[in-house]
Amino acid sequence: MDLGGTNLRILRVRVVDGNLEVLNAESTPITTEIKQGTGERLFDHIAARLGDFPVPQDLQGETLPLGFAFSFPCEQNQIDQSILIRWTKGFNCSRVEGKDVVTLLREAIQRTRNMNYNIGPVVIVNDTVGAMMSCGYNNPSCEIGMIIGTGTNACYMEEMRNVRRVEGEEGRMCINTEWGGFGDDGSLKDIQTEFDVKVDETSINPSVHIFEKMISGMYLGEIVRLLLVRLAEDNLLFRGRTWQALRTPFTFETKFISEIEEQDDGLVNTRRILTELGLERELVDCAVVRLVCETISSRAADLCAAALATIVNRIRTNRGLSHLNTTVGVDGTVYRRHPKLSSRLQEKVVELAPMCDITFFDTDDASGKGAAMAAAVVQRLARQ
Ligand code: BGC
Repeated sequence: MDLGGTNLRILRVRVVDGNLEVLNAESTPITTEIKQGTGERLFDHIAARLGDFPVPQDLQGETLPLGFAFSFPCEQNQIDQSILIRWTKGFNCSRVEGKDVVTLLREAIQRTRNMNYNIGPVVIVNDTVGAMMSCGYNNPSCEIGMIIGTGTNACYMEEMRNVRRVEGEEGRMCINTEWGGFGDDGSLKDIQTEFDVKVDETSINPSVHIFEKMISGMYLGEIVRLLLVRLAEDNLLFRGRTWQALRTPFTFETKFISEIEEQDDGLVNTRRILTELGLERELVDCAVVRLVCETISSRAADLCAAALATIVNRIRTNRGLSHLNTTVGVDGTVYRRHPKLSSRLQEKVVELAPMCDITFFDTDDASGKGAAMAAAVVQRLARQ
């Protein structure tokens, strides 16, 4: 199961001899009411979706292990326990912060009456860890997981001797960087624009996850909208007119940026989107809107590249290598759907980390599949 920023995905997966097969999958959006309601309502909703999920006859009454990709900052001391530190990505469910989400999920499953199978051991991982795990199965050199979707984050394998909070010097351990929270101490002030500041101030979690608010799908469309309003106010766009639609927060969706930047000489998509938004435009306005989208998405790619370059350079120097070959498992709608962001990011990383050769590997449902992998491993160890 994968609770990302926008949807809840449930997959039934079979792992045999290292091969993972998705047998069936369902996705439901998480509405704003649920995102901002009580924790009980959120977990009842999740339990109800698990209950509705069709399992074949031969599995009814059986106990299935559950891999749970839970994409929020957590304090995790055990594989089946994860304490939510704080919500991000527009979630603000009450009475969950500071609590173990696996316990909340189990309590909700007990409340629901419509399950015709049982949930056995629950293995919880961050979505970046899921992405790294599912990529790592086929690519042993994968030691980084990255998400650029509704939110953004990365995890990587760190040498144990550098992990001060855990005893032991041998081997490696996965670190969830929560890089979305970079800048929360003011360190990004120099590069934040007035639009970034506004996006942060008007969000439901001001001063939190500043880096994420410059990069991820939840915010990119809104940054573009604020920039367009400013250009119109300065008489550089739409002959100085700002319509109500343009003034309404979140009317410019992040998916519009991807559509506008698609290979499209006649600016057909841009014209269509502006018309649908009710904005009267000339051809030059369309060209400016496209330029704004390109500017904002390239900046997002560059910022992610800078963060990723920092990680690969760190891994390389930690190991005393002059050259590092590594693989990154990636997931997230922005990375996968935007026509240019992934190539821009990859070019930029080469520039910033010239002594590292990085292969990027993205797959459908990487986080959910990786969570399933983790559950399969834990199940096997328990049997042994
Ligand atoms: C969360 C991370 C998550 C990322 C990508 C961020 O808002 O804090 O835990 O990995 O979004 O989903």
